[in-house]
Amino acid sequence: MLKFKEITKIFKTDLTSQPFVALDNVSFEIPTGSMVGFLGANGAGKTTSIKIIMDFIRADQGALEFSSELGKNKNDILKKIGFLPERPYFYPNLTGHEFLHFLGGLSELKKSQIDQNILKWAPRFKIDHALNRQLKTYSKGMLQRIGFLSTIIHDPEFIILDEPLSGLDPIGRKELKDVIVDVHKSGKTVFFSSHIVSDIEEICDRVIFLQTGKMVYDGGVQSLLNTHEQKDYLVKVQGYGFTPSVKHQEYTRLAGNITTFKINQQDREVLLAEVLNKKVELIGLEFIKPSLEEIFYNIRSK
Ligand SMILES: Nc1ncnc2c1ncn2[C@@H]1O[C@H](COP(=O)(O)OP(=O)(O)OP(=O)(O)O)[C@@H](O)[C@H]1O
Ligand SMILES: [Mg+2]
Repeated sequence: MLKFKEITKIFKTDLTSQPFVALDNVSFEIPTGSMVGFLGANGAGKTTSIKIIMDFIRADQGALEFSSELGKNKNDILKKIGFLPERPYFYPNLTGHEFLHFLGGLSELKKSQIDQNILKWAPRFKIDHALNRQLKTYSKGMLQRIGFLSTIIHDPEFIILDEPLSGLDPIGRKELKDVIVDVHKSGKTVFFSSHIVSDIEEICDRVIFLQTGKMVYDGGVQSLLNTHEQKDYLVKVQGYGFTPSVKHQEYTRLAGNITTFKINQQDREVLLAEVLNKKVELIGLEFIKPSLEEIFYNIRSK
């Protein structure tokens, strides 16, 4: 669907300050029909990359290559893209319905077709009840929903969402993730940025990882998680005087003489045998999932 090839973007803010390299020879691929997560901390270059894809700003070096099914020229291609910006603008006096018709109209869609698409998607976004209200009365989560719905109103092939889940409560996050999955299952290619590795782990098959303008990973989500080879366990025991012989980190000593240790995966069996021998009670054994920071650290130190 898209190849982002060896792209460099340098911002020159003013004459006195140094030029800033926001993207440094970044390459990645978004295959047709995939669901790709775009991970990176604040300032990593996600929005800059997306702006280059959308042709809002130009790269200093490198090239973009869209697959032929999207069209031959930039105009045709852009019509096949649905884009949700990081900070979308909502006309406050328009109702949800008017807003969707306004955006659908910009894509030269017939009124009847816009209505059909609203009927299809608005209940899924749980926003159908508010479509006759002005956008200024919408909550943040409702605006996020109508914003996302507006990106697919013209039935695009390629959907790009810049932080679609930010600022939502856990239920809102889950609901919007479910809709993203539905949209993807309806045959669309989806590319969305996030800071949260668990969101991406949950719904994406591929992930692109940027760190301060440099590409650190482009590939399967599972292989990214596997790069975190040090799989640790948290073991919680209750009882007196137990110290594991295996390498461990004592985490917390809680009330009721409960101790929590962090151990390596390969030491799990030995530790469990020792727990049984010492007759202390095993209260919990929990796999510690790698956090975004740990994955960052692991990839960086390779
Ligand atoms: N117009 C600009 N002029 C100068 N610097 C810019 C400009 N736009 C972006 N930058 C810089 O480029 C870097 C990347 O910014 P970008 O907005 O792409 O990050 P991001 O990954 O989207 O971060 P966030 O998660 O906070 O949205 C930042 O250091 C930012 O300050
Ligand atoms: Mg951004």
